[in-house]
Amino acid sequence: MQLLDSLEQGLADLAARGLTRRRRTIDSPCAAHMIVDGRAMIGFASNDYLGLTAHPQLVAAIAEGAQRYGAGSGGSHLLGGHSRAHAQLEDDLAAFAGGFVDAPRALYFSTGYMANLAVLTALAGRGTTLFSDALNHASLIDGARLSRADVQIYPHADVEALSAMLDASDAQAKLIVTDSVFSMDGDIAPLAPLLALAERHGAWLVVDDAHGFGVLGPQGRGAIAQAALRSPHLVSVGTLGKAAGVSGAFVAAHATVIEWLVQRARPYIFTTASAPAVAHAVSASLKIIAGDEGDARRAHLHALIERTRALLKQTCWLPVDSHTAVQPLIIGANDATLDMAAALDREGLWVPAIRPPTVPAGTSRLRISLSAAHSHDDLDRLEAALLRLSKAEAAS
Ligand SMILES: Cc1ncc(COP(=O)(O)O)c(C=O)c1O
Repeated sequence: MQLLDSLEQGLADLAARGLTRRRRTIDSPCAAHMIVDGRAMIGFASNDYLGLTAHPQLVAAIAEGAQRYGAGSGGSHLLGGHSRAHAQLEDDLAAFAGGFVDAPRALYFSTGYMANLAVLTALAGRGTTLFSDALNHASLIDGARLSRADVQIYPHADVEALSAMLDASDAQAKLIVTDSVFSMDGDIAPLAPLLALAERHGAWLVVDDAHGFGVLGPQGRGAIAQAALRSPHLVSVGTLGKAAGVSGAFVAAHATVIEWLVQRARPYIFTTASAPAVAHAVSASLKIIAGDEGDARRAHLHALIERTRALLKQTCWLPVDSHTAVQPLIIGANDATLDMAAALDREGLWVPAIRPPTVPAGTSRLRISLSAAHSHDDLDRLEAALLRLSKAEAAS
């Protein structure tokens, strides 16, 4: 019983600090209007930035992929699980997202978490110093830990501080790693100066473009394309379960980097390949992202982003200066943030409360996540509720 008791104690401790997390059960596709725990709600919680998860062409593609390849891959990529659908998708991804390097190649992973573990453990090790932004995603933090490199955290987006740390380092090998769009703040990393530092110090620059791919840059090619960067030292990780609306992730880089990952990255080698049907659906998604429909969805999303920025500035809480689909509103205390989320929930609006350890203590926030699936009427509902709550807070 003692082992269970200590877990009970841990759970009670989380509850006392307002840190218990709760899963909600959804009975509809991920869309602007969803059935959540049996109730009709407008969702502002997903990363489905282009509103593609329920797109008929993707639903048809996954069914067609299952007909063609079956339900599962049957093995790891190196031992029989690598299908034509995976190979085709990697070619599509290299052509679409690898324009920052001559001889691009891409490698498809089941999740972004695993892609980040793979890149960092394969490119960094003992003798490497890995410089990591203070607000990087948990998967990059875990990858850095697993790599056994010496890890130095630089203050968020602070190029000068990073430059001083690189100057002071005598490591044989260096790697800089950053989110492109920070997942809980929505701001964009200073990629051009980071690449200039990487080039000056002979370091890799690994960019986790989870929240930029599909949304930023020409045709949604991502943050590196938006910043018009080119370098063989760049390694890009994009996820395919967010704007692409399906699941999985990819690493795009020089062909030699990718071959190194195939040979050495344990999170790539020692796991079953995802279902080929999923890869088949991602290829269909890339066509939508790159085409006129993708442009129209991005244009609508950007109109919603600008409207939300203006709305959040009218409240008594602290918006973050974000020009992306992630629009946080910092409330501060855990309980107050939970209360706000509960009040919005009562109005049929699902806006998640984000608390430590996902964000630093004292900066708990509502994370409003916008999607091209939202209409201006949906935003009207959010606007009315937030302004009402803000007025009540100011009067209290
Ligand atoms: C910045 C960032 N990187 C990586 C991931 C992991 O991607 P995935 O959900 O595909 O594992 C996420 C989200 O979950 C993320 O926000």
